[in-house]
This record gives sequence, structure tokens and C-alpha cells, in this order.
Amino acid sequence: MAQQKRKRFAEFSSFSNTVEKDVSFKGNWNRAFFQNDFPICLELACGKGEYTIGLAEIFSNQNFIGVDIKANRMWKGASYALENKLSNVGFLRTQIDHIENYFGHSEVDEIWITFPDPQHKKARKRLTNPFFLDYYRKILKPKARIHLKTDDDLLYEYTLEVIDQLKLPIHNQSANIYSKEEINLKLQIKTFYEKIWLEAGKEIKYIQFSLS
Ligand SMILES: C[S@@+](CC[C@H](N)C(=O)[O-])C[C@H]1O[C@@H](n2cnc3c(N)ncnc32)[C@H](O)[C@@H]1O
Repeated sequence: MAQQKRKRFAEFSSFSNTVEKDVSFKGNWNRAFFQNDFPICLELACGKGEYTIGLAEIFSNQNFIGVDIKANRMWKGASYALENKLSNVGFLRTQIDHIENYFGHSEVDEIWITFPDPQHKKARKRLTNPFFLDYYRKILKPKARIHLKTDDDLLYEYTLEVIDQLKLPIHNQSANIYSKEEINLKLQIKTFYEKIWLEAGKEIKYIQFSLS
């Protein structure tokens, strides 16, 4: 297992669609990485990158970048994208706390946060904590949408409280997305963790909001 992790780590670094420790793309992703002018969407805490891949397969005129600290997990999405010639996909290995080192002001059009660790004991580490929202504010276009999908009641309620305290607009919200008859195509993509939580009988929650 450890050997496979090491192998994947090395392969991830060698892939043409991955970036780590290289801040030269900041402000240049369209020209230098994608060679197109399509809008850029990030999937934060992407794990194996199911949302990055799923959205990229639906929206070929948008660019998608999965962001996580674990290369062996992102290896899955990155190798799938290469095998399937998804030229609108990239993966960035970094701590999300350092995201502003990698993207310029207003460079990003949209953010998805999919099943992040709820961090029950450390609110400061929750990816919807106001500190993290400030990082996102620095790289997002005005009125850009942030999407949170989670199984976790505490993280869902906490995020709604943060949104309320900061008086941010909510554009869509559901405490159980699969209770509706019609589900938006974007919401139907399922990550590794979402499948686990669905099998465990959990309800999947969703908030779409913006920072202005
Ligand atoms: C519970 S997993 C969810 C993975 C995937 N989104 C899914 O739904 O299957 C949380 C992921 O967040 C990543 N993560 C947590 N905090 C992070 C941070 N500050 N910076 C980068 N990655 C982080 C972990 O490495 C892990 O892959």
C-alpha cells in the first residue's frame, strides 16, 4: 500500500496536467496551462477528483482544477483525465490555505467544496470558516458562486451561520438534495465520500452562495 502511494505520488508529479509548488501559473492559468479563455472552476478538497472530472465531461467549454494536498488521491482523477484526453482538467497539489499563491485576483469563476472534513473540534480548519472565505475572496470574480456539498449536519448549520453573520447571499439551498423529484445535473455527480455516506443512509446537503 505504502509502495503504491509512493508510486502514485511520483507519477502525479510527472503528469502533464498536474501542478505542485509551481506558482508561475498565478494569473496565467488560461494562457499558460489550458491555452484557452474558458472560465475557471476549482474543486477544493477534491480527493480523487470526481467533481472535477464529472463537471469537465459535461461542460467542455469550462476549465476545472481539482485542489487537494494528497497526490495519491488526485492521481486517480489526473490519470483518468489524461487517458480520456480531457484538456479542460488540471490538478493542483497544495494546502487550500495557500490558494492565493496559485491564483491571481479575480482569476477564478466558481468554487465547489465537496464533502470536506467537517472538523468538528477545530472550526478554524473548516473550509467555510470566514478565514477560508477571505482566501477565496482574493481569487474569485465578484458574485462568483461557491457550492458546498456535505453529509454533515454540523458543517451545514455552521456554514449557514457564517453566511448569515457575514450577510452573504444564498442562491440555492437544500437539506436533502435527493428528496426533490428533479435534481440539477451538476448535483448528480457523486464523489467517493458521497457514495459512502449515501450507503450509510445519510442525507446530502447543499448550499450555493456568493461572497457579494
Ligand atoms: C473527506 S475527503 C473528501 C474528498 C472528496 N471531495 C470526496 O468527496 O470524496 C477531504 C479531502 O480534503 C483534503 N483536505 C482537507 N483539508 C485540506 C487543506 N487545508 N488543503 C488541502 N486539502 C485538504 C484531504 O486531503 C482530503 O482528500
